[in-house]
Amino acid sequence: MRKIVFALLALPLFFACGDEAETEASNTAGERSESSKELIAKMKLATDHHSFARPNEAVVKHLNWDATVDFGTKIISGTATYTIEAKDSADKIILDIRELTIEQVTTNDGGPVEFEIGPETEFLGQALSIPITSSTTEISIRYKSSPEAEALLWVEGEEPFLFTQSQAILARTWIPCQDSPGIRFTYNATVRVPGGLLALMSAENPTEANDEGVYTFKMEQPIPSYLMALAVGNIAYAPIGERTAVYATPDLIDAAKYEFEEMDDMLVAAEALYGAYAWGRYDLLILPAAFPFGGMENPRLTFATPTIIAGDRSLTSLVAHELAHSWSGNLVTNATWDDFWLNEGFTVYFEQRIMEAVYGRETSEMLATLSYQGLKMEVEEIMDLNPNDTHLKLHLQGRNPDDGMSAIAYDKGYFFLRLIEETVGREKFDVFLKEYFQGNAFKVMDTERFVTYLKSELLTPEDEKAIDLESWIYGAGLPGNIPTVKSDRLVEVDSALSEWSKGYLPTQELKWNEWAYQERYRFLSNLPEDVTYKQMNDLNQIFAINKTGNNEVLFAWLEQAILHDYTPAYSRLEQFLVSVGRRKFLTPLYRAMKETGKIDMARRIYGTARQNYHAVAYNTMDELLIAE
Ligand code: BES
Ligand code: ZN
Repeated sequence: MRKIVFALLALPLFFACGDEAETEASNTAGERSESSKELIAKMKLATDHHSFARPNEAVVKHLNWDATVDFGTKIISGTATYTIEAKDSADKIILDIRELTIEQVTTNDGGPVEFEIGPETEFLGQALSIPITSSTTEISIRYKSSPEAEALLWVEGEEPFLFTQSQAILARTWIPCQDSPGIRFTYNATVRVPGGLLALMSAENPTEANDEGVYTFKMEQPIPSYLMALAVGNIAYAPIGERTAVYATPDLIDAAKYEFEEMDDMLVAAEALYGAYAWGRYDLLILPAAFPFGGMENPRLTFATPTIIAGDRSLTSLVAHELAHSWSGNLVTNATWDDFWLNEGFTVYFEQRIMEAVYGRETSEMLATLSYQGLKMEVEEIMDLNPNDTHLKLHLQGRNPDDGMSAIAYDKGYFFLRLIEETVGREKFDVFLKEYFQGNAFKVMDTERFVTYLKSELLTPEDEKAIDLESWIYGAGLPGNIPTVKSDRLVEVDSALSEWSKGYLPTQELKWNEWAYQERYRFLSNLPEDVTYKQMNDLNQIFAINKTGNNEVLFAWLEQAILHDYTPAYSRLEQFLVSVGRRKFLTPLYRAMKETGKIDMARRIYGTARQNYHAVAYNTMDELLIAE
């Protein structure tokens, strides 16, 4: 007999019907005694259109994963054993799979069962349907991944390396799972890798490799599948504080330890803001440059690109961001990818607060100004393509959730929360946020529930009017009441740029060498359209920009080089594109080539570089450069 009672079954009637999320908690007579928070907790959540799972029928609770990683065939094979909970009436449990070969499924009822695999759906893969009875508590799936699995990147050669990238819906390409952010489970794992290599997961981790290559893992807090992660390679370990450390390949470990020395301060600052860190340790893994993102907030072990190692600790805001996800995202999780801004907007807001606490307001305002600059540009672009994609609440049904990964969720989300902060005052907002993370820890949140919560716990009717939630969340573009950011230092950069472009200020008098990376980035990313070859060349000659070790500055420079045919930067450009797989850099650079009549150059470089990229990156570049 199963012991669970579904929360759903205990719901008041008015929430139990209809497919769509309720937008407001009604206050019927019978409910008056309940607190508004209890009512909100009972609101029916939005449906996740990116998973075949039906968690209201049968849901996974714990995973026991036993797997072997084979670099020769690029296959992960193993057995995923799930403890499940189901309604008594349920006759099957549905999991998501994509390009997995399912070899055998057994249950605790004994013997193999006849599972079914549904038709292939674009982006989503297939439904794996496993028959259960009222006494089924465990299902066991023996399977193999495909060498083409989209989550996986296998680095070949003398130093083999494997890493996963599961968000948003790619976990199903390496583990059969209920691949929906609203479904959480704990896990244990035993992973076998070539002897001498180290394996790490989003879990309690080893610090040293062993000759057998067998490692065990344990994640005791329930997490959604998109936070499942694995990395295997020749990886070294260097402690930073009591609860923090970096992992990296031996050639980068010292540089990484220096670069991220402030990680502990960030953790302390974050806890001081929004409450105790819930995950035990916070470590950072520096991945090969093919990692398609800047960072990924895998619990206990953030995955990060090596392009943030600048040698001067200037790009650490990325760590602040991924650390912030330990609250926003990993503790309180977006219910569906349409609610992605709840993960990312909150995280950018929290990241900014950590940066302010550790480095001061001047630094965080420079970052906010750059975020505004990027947001304005992207909003213009997206407004031309599909204005609905500029709403905070997205509509990704039938699409790749990857489409939602724009500045909207991140920066429009940030400015919305900043507007709330500025409207109610920081003190009140901080109390609210701390409460929000604590009260909703290990739970899901959707946009409608958040709005109800916000209205009932924080905003007065006057606040509501001043903020205009409706246009921020369900409207296009940037509302007129968007907070203004002002960075005196960037204002100065802007005037230096304007003087310099007109020829009034000689290049050698620019304060380049005193400027922080944000100032340099501001300058380069705003070069006027009519900047001359000579001006570009002066910059490069005097400040050796081609040789900068700061990849954000280099990126802004290379983009300008393409736009203005500054050919002396092209060999650096090519070297950068072949060695770095971070999509945020690749897309604008290839696009700039395409848009300035250099598609042949773009295709030639891409021809060599593509094999070094992760699927997430080459899918985007294929669309940009190959598809017509
Ligand atoms: N969780 C995201 C990365 C992500 C989002 C992967 C959606 C797949 C789908 C991560 O926290 C992130 O936002 N990374 C940013 C860096 C950050 C400093 C803005 C990135 O990789 O650019
Ligand atoms: Zn993020």
